[in-house]
Amino acid sequence: MSNRERLGVVTSGAFNLGLTVRLDPDTSTEGLRIGSFVVVEGDRHRYFCLISDMSLQAADARIAADPPREASAFIRSVLAGTTTYATLQVKPQLMLDMSKEDNERRMEPVRNIPMHFATLRDATEMDFHTVFGEEDATHFDMGTPLTMDIPICLDLEKWTQRSNGIFGQSGTGKSFLARLILCGIVSKKSAVNLIFDMHDEYAFGKESEDKIFVKGMRDLFGSQMCVYSLDAASARRQGRSVDAVLQVGLNQIEAQDVLLLSEELNLNPTASANIGLLEDRFHADWFTRLVEMTPDDIGEFSQSAGANEASLEALQRKLKEIARRGYVVPQAQYSQIDEMVELFRTGRHIILQFGQFNRPLDYMLVANIITRRVRDAYVKQAERYEQTHDPADRPRPLMITIEEAHKFLSPALARQTIFGTIARELRKYSVTLMVVDQRPSGIDAEIMSQLGTRVSGKLTEERDIESVLTGVSGRAAVRAMLESLDTKQQVLLIGHAVPMPIQIRTRKYDNEFYRAVGLLSAEERKAKLTKDFVDLYGAAAKK
Ligand SMILES: Nc1ncnc2c1ncn2[C@@H]1O[C@H](COP(=O)(O)OP(=O)(O)O)[C@@H](O)[C@H]1O
Ligand SMILES: [Mg+2]
Repeated sequence: MSNRERLGVVTSGAFNLGLTVRLDPDTSTEGLRIGSFVVVEGDRHRYFCLISDMSLQAADARIAADPPREASAFIRSVLAGTTTYATLQVKPQLMLDMSKEDNERRMEPVRNIPMHFATLRDATEMDFHTVFGEEDATHFDMGTPLTMDIPICLDLEKWTQRSNGIFGQSGTGKSFLARLILCGIVSKKSAVNLIFDMHDEYAFGKESEDKIFVKGMRDLFGSQMCVYSLDAASARRQGRSVDAVLQVGLNQIEAQDVLLLSEELNLNPTASANIGLLEDRFHADWFTRLVEMTPDDIGEFSQSAGANEASLEALQRKLKEIARRGYVVPQAQYSQIDEMVELFRTGRHIILQFGQFNRPLDYMLVANIITRRVRDAYVKQAERYEQTHDPADRPRPLMITIEEAHKFLSPALARQTIFGTIARELRKYSVTLMVVDQRPSGIDAEIMSQLGTRVSGKLTEERDIESVLTGVSGRAAVRAMLESLDTKQQVLLIGHAVPMPIQIRTRKYDNEFYRAVGLLSAEERKAKLTKDFVDLYGAAAKK
């Protein structure tokens, strides 16, 4: 080990608290960073650790009581290492048994601690490779460590096995990061995707905050990426090829959809009971029947069903607001949504754009109706597969991306909405969520604890930080990592899909990236077409 890498030696420690390392006299705390990845070399094991704290010490209490005034460089160097020194707290995350043969060495959870005077050193490129692997069929390059230029990969197979979250305050790069991950999933075929694109930013190219024109996922993946829109007018806009305009029928709106909108519609607390009475009488038709009622009808119904007339009138007024939305029609078949499920079966992905209908009300209503139907189809498919064990029946894992996730997953709603159900049932039916949110504290704590992997940019509010760290072990170190992020394009990765927490600089979403996920230049496209043609007809000619 070269001296340049060596930082210090372990002087004390406890399994639960981590290790205390005394820094070598020539190592300055200013050259280190909280949360960075370091390695402790024990006699038998190599421990991969995070720096969780730094402190300054003095062997002689008089130094603190009477520090030398204007200490010259000479004085400081005389004191350094003997009278004054610095210590680090480091927390082992993983270990490798070096006494085993190369091919038998596996990354293991930490089960012990090294003895006194084990050395601490900086992580090398080799260490990063050992822990974070390399890009391959299931690992996707997400960016680089803050101090080095090598790829850090996300395990997409593990990522798509559980629901996940992307957090960070506004402008930290959440939507860009979501797009990076989605591109990885599409190009490596780890899952199919349903993306609720509230702000029209996933499908087509648009200008970034840095005034650069960036490509949308439709531009990158062509017909693999189907685009649905709620807004017929914006779907007709030039240069946008939308596959279908989606309509929602009053017959498809259920009580739970309306209750989800309690806040948006400012519903009275009695709304739930009134809807119950309407459902008892009119069953699936309750919404249409209520909206069509005359004041006399309302009076009559209130009398006979024992409802409060005024609150029923208020409910009607509010639900008429929904009925008037441009994409709502009196009756709609489920065929459009079932068609989506069919597209997932063939490996296609869907982006739903909201266009002008971008009020939270539209977003929540439509996302809820579609997701409920899609999940039902998945449950049926999963049950069929359980019976037949036919690989053709195996559901393709589906990941549903929702922005502004706290609107669906707040403590008040998480028990009632389909999104709460999906997050809680893990991957039982092969459907998972990718929640994107700037206010994680608004999400129910139980749901947060179910998220397998969390990616977070800078957060400043205490309760948001706490919420992202729900259920994370070794919180002090991880918290320090979260707090020390820059405000842009730096994120912390924690959980199931990464071997240990790490801060990264997010990969750039640019031309180089487009090519990496398979976008061809004009010449390449031509060459590929020619090759496909020869492959096809060349083979036919031989027969
Ligand atoms: N990976 C990236 N590559 C290129 N630019 C990025 C990247 N991440 C963020 N940006 C820049 O930061 C801006 C804000 O990112 P965005 O994802 O819209 O933030 P958020 O969704 O968190 O509000 C973008 O418009 C873009 O200019
Ligand atoms: Mg965003």
